[in-house]
Amino acid sequence: MREVILRTDKLLASMGYGSRKEVKKLLKKSAFTVNGETVKDGKFHVNPENDLLEIFGERVDYKEFIYLMMNKPAGYVSATEDKVEKTVVELLETKHQLYEPFPVGRLDKDTTGLLLLTNDGKLAHQLTSPKKKVDKTYLVYLDIPASEEDILALERGVTLEDGYETKPAKIHIITEGDLSKLNITIQEGKYHQVKRMFQTQGKRVVKLERKRMGSLHLDLELEKGHYRELTEKELIDLQQGYSQ
Ligand code: URA
Repeated sequence: MREVILRTDKLLASMGYGSRKEVKKLLKKSAFTVNGETVKDGKFHVNPENDLLEIFGERVDYKEFIYLMMNKPAGYVSATEDKVEKTVVELLETKHQLYEPFPVGRLDKDTTGLLLLTNDGKLAHQLTSPKKKVDKTYLVYLDIPASEEDILALERGVTLEDGYETKPAKIHIITEGDLSKLNITIQEGKYHQVKRMFQTQGKRVVKLERKRMGSLHLDLELEKGHYRELTEKELIDLQQGYSQ
C-alpha cells in the first residue's frame, strides 16, 4: 500500500474539523498532538497511518478512502466537474468533497437512483470493468407497455442503432399484466444503454431508476439527493464480490 503523507491542516479539514481557517485556530490553541508532541504549524506533514494523532487528547481516526451511496436526483450529471450542469459532487458536504470522491459509472442526467461515489480507484475500476460482469438493475417506466416479444428480444440481446449487440438482459415483471413498468438487469454500461435497448423495440423509457449494482442495493430510506457512507458489510460484500 502506498504511504500517505499529508499536511496537518488539509488532513484535519478533510476529517471535518472545520475549514482550513478554523483548523488554524484549533492548532493555535495547542489542541493537536502528533505522537504526543504539540503541532501548531498547519504545514507540518504527518503520516496518519503510522503517527498517533490526537485532538484535545482524543484520537483522530484517519481513513484514506470514502464510499458514499447516493440516491441520485434528476437534473444532476454524474461527474466531478461540469461547465454548464450541476454535478452530483455538488450535493456532497465539504467534509466529504475533501476526499475527492468521483461517481462510479455514469447515470444520465435524468436518471435517478443508486450511485456510488468513492476515491478508491481500484474498486471503481473493478465495478465498471466489463470483464467483471457486474449486474446493474434498473426500474424502467415505458411510454407504451412492452410486448412479450420485446421482452424475449431483450433477453436474447438486441442490436443497437450503432450496430452494437447487447448481451442477454434479465427482465423481471413487477406487476403481472403490466408491462409498462419493469426491472431490467444488464452487465454492460454503454452510453444510454437501457434507453437504447428499449428504443430498438419502439418503446421510449420515460423514467429510469437504478436500484442495484452488484451486491449493493439502493437504500430505500435515502431520499433523492441524499447520501450516506456504506456500512462495513456493504463495503466488504462489494470488495469480496469483485476482488479476483
Ligand atoms: N442506461 C441508460 O439509458 N441510462 C442510464 O442512466 C443508465 C443506463
